[in-house]
Amino acid sequence: MRPKPGIETIQPYQGGKPIEEVQRELGISDIIKLASNENPLSPSPLVMGAIQDAATQVNLYPDGNAYYLKQDLATHVGVPPENLILGNGSNEVLQLVGETYISPGDAVIYSAGAFIVYMLVAKVFGAKSIVTPMCGYTQDVAAMADAITDQTRVIFIANPNNPTGTIVAKTETEKLMARVPDDVLVVFDEAYYEYVDRPDYPQTLPYIHEGRNVIITRTFSKIYGLAGMRIGYGLAKSDIIETMDRVRQPFNCNLVAQAAARAALKDVEHVRRSQEINTIGKTYLYEALNEIGLAYVESEGNFILVHFDRAGDEISDALMRKGVIVRPVAGYGFPKSIRVTIGTPEENERFVKALKAVLADN
Ligand SMILES: Cc1ncc(COP(=O)(O)O)c(C=O)c1O
Repeated sequence: MRPKPGIETIQPYQGGKPIEEVQRELGISDIIKLASNENPLSPSPLVMGAIQDAATQVNLYPDGNAYYLKQDLATHVGVPPENLILGNGSNEVLQLVGETYISPGDAVIYSAGAFIVYMLVAKVFGAKSIVTPMCGYTQDVAAMADAITDQTRVIFIANPNNPTGTIVAKTETEKLMARVPDDVLVVFDEAYYEYVDRPDYPQTLPYIHEGRNVIITRTFSKIYGLAGMRIGYGLAKSDIIETMDRVRQPFNCNLVAQAAARAALKDVEHVRRSQEINTIGKTYLYEALNEIGLAYVESEGNFILVHFDRAGDEISDALMRKGVIVRPVAGYGFPKSIRVTIGTPEENERFVKALKAVLADN
């Protein structure tokens, strides 16, 4: 059976290797995973209680419109529920953008070295990818604005970006938005929003209040520690949400995930601890990498892109043999780098120890 044109050129998305797979393949135990930018803390007790309660009701379909979660999120973010759409992870919201707004032959703009799902979405919906070069390790939004043509429908910006961890600053975002025509949709992917602690980080919500064609995507997978639950959301003006809702599968967010997300929003202390452990881990890892003499990109997320003088695949394979799973990022255009998620202090120490051993072995 022949797939739609373009599908043959897509490689299946390669996530960080699951611990069980490495255990099976290498026959080793005591493995840590720092490969998928997950929250290293266990889920909050509030979340676990909510999951247990919700589990008693899974014979029923979830609320397809997620009324209560939308109410809570609306209060949390400061928008009416009409400005919210939920997804099975924020990835689904990115996919919904494609389903709703991208037709074959349209042009979609994103940066080289940006989150790989933008490329996938463009290909799946038959769009032409216009990939602008990075400026250092930062997405060059001026180049993106220069690349806009009559064919352009969507611009994807990861802020912060994965795997570089860099942000597009407020002044740059403002300049971009001043140049974006009204028939182009700008997607600000803010999966790591809650980790950013920089005064020049743009607040993009006002664009929605101003009626601009902007979608902001955020997630419960990172700071809220619910990656395994698959729940994220999009923010946009109500007519965009209403249009995307026509395309959305009726029960795309499951009942347990909705309950878990509501509890996660309430556990402010868990979010604070998650931020704190990330900051502590980042400082520790920067110092350790400086001491080893490895270059890295300063990150606003919960991960760091680290550079080597040889293939990142080699380094990540060797680390895996020592029970530490990190992410090779050649597929993102960084063949001599790896991306490591910031873990607990113990995990970070384990990573540094394994890294030193790997470098000493070669
Ligand atoms: C930049 C970025 N956007 C979106 C996602 C998708 O996250 P999720 O689908 O778990 O919400 C990720 C996941 O790593 C990411 O790094």
